[in-house]
Amino acid sequence: MTVESLIPHGDFVGLEGVTHLCTGGEAPWFKDQVETYAEFARCKSGGDRGRRLIYETGERCRERMGALWGVPAERIAFMPSAAEGMACLARGLCWQPGDNVVTTNLEFPSVAYNWRNLREEGVEVRLVPHSDWLVREEDLLATVDERTRVLAISQVSFYTGQNLNITELAAGLAGTDTLLAVDATHAAGAVQVHAAKADLCVSSSYKWLLATHGVAPCYVSDRAEALLRPTAFGWRNLAVWPAQGAERAPDAEEKPMPERLEPGNPSMVSVLYLDYALERILQIGIERIEAHNLDLSEQVNAGLEGLQQKVISPKVRERRSGNTCFAVDDAHVLCEALADREVLVWGEHGRVRVSGHLYNNSADVERFLSVLQELI
Ligand SMILES: Cc1ncc(COP(=O)(O)O)c(C=O)c1O
Repeated sequence: MTVESLIPHGDFVGLEGVTHLCTGGEAPWFKDQVETYAEFARCKSGGDRGRRLIYETGERCRERMGALWGVPAERIAFMPSAAEGMACLARGLCWQPGDNVVTTNLEFPSVAYNWRNLREEGVEVRLVPHSDWLVREEDLLATVDERTRVLAISQVSFYTGQNLNITELAAGLAGTDTLLAVDATHAAGAVQVHAAKADLCVSSSYKWLLATHGVAPCYVSDRAEALLRPTAFGWRNLAVWPAQGAERAPDAEEKPMPERLEPGNPSMVSVLYLDYALERILQIGIERIEAHNLDLSEQVNAGLEGLQQKVISPKVRERRSGNTCFAVDDAHVLCEALADREVLVWGEHGRVRVSGHLYNNSADVERFLSVLQELI
């Protein structure tokens, strides 16, 4: 089967003659974002009216993000990074000695280490081990007990590309007090994300969402919001305007989501970039993008196995994602050699990650495999 691109390579900056298979690290940039910037610049110079136009586009971005994730827009805050989103729980819940957090020993650092200060308060961090690079939902659930405050995981693994079954995890936690916190950075824009199953779902924007740094949409459920104390306060998350005038009272009411987690202005230029990227993603539809990315993953997998490489990504289609990964001792050296030949993949910590997204096609996969063959 030949997989065609869903968006032409030519819509992106710098892809002429380049095989770009590293969206899991950094996505390429839409040429049309020049227009987004021009509009931002006009609004930015346009005083209060211009500012209001920027906010209107920001609210449209929230709507689009809600549509992508199947949750109400007003439950999505714009955080500065995925790490900060996860930190809302670490810093904002009332922890007690003896509480614990369950995560895995293959987790991305921001998910695994956000809880480190809590160890001083007697909170245990449980790292569920992977089994031959696979994290099992049943192992995660079996590690949760009545003192588990948060089960924190990435939906799609940065290391192996495994797409965890969030529905199964949510069902396993039903009726408990454990919050399900999902880092969807390698899932959002690439595969379906059912954020409503989680209590917190956050994603950076510079990978599969095709935007850039500085904004990370963060969904928070009703019950998580009720438990969370904001850890920063400012003009935007307190009802000082217009409830108060120039003079301050000792107390000011906290606003609900989404401003609750936005004490000051988010990076609005990044929000506008995200809004445009979401328009393009939603035009195609996430089901179609997911099917396309899984088809590419299967082609990468088959080709790597044909070259006797040790693929560490799951073999079952339902557990696949846009990332297909193989073990290499000196991953960075191999990536540099590929980059010298205009083939961009991402490698570190003993594995190389090949990411196929909506602008990739079978020809990209074939070019990667043929250059790899020359090198090994
Ligand atoms: C799972 C995961 N979460 C988060 C990030 C980074 O997100 P941010 O820089 O927005 O914290 C990465 C980057 O590689 C990642 O792989």
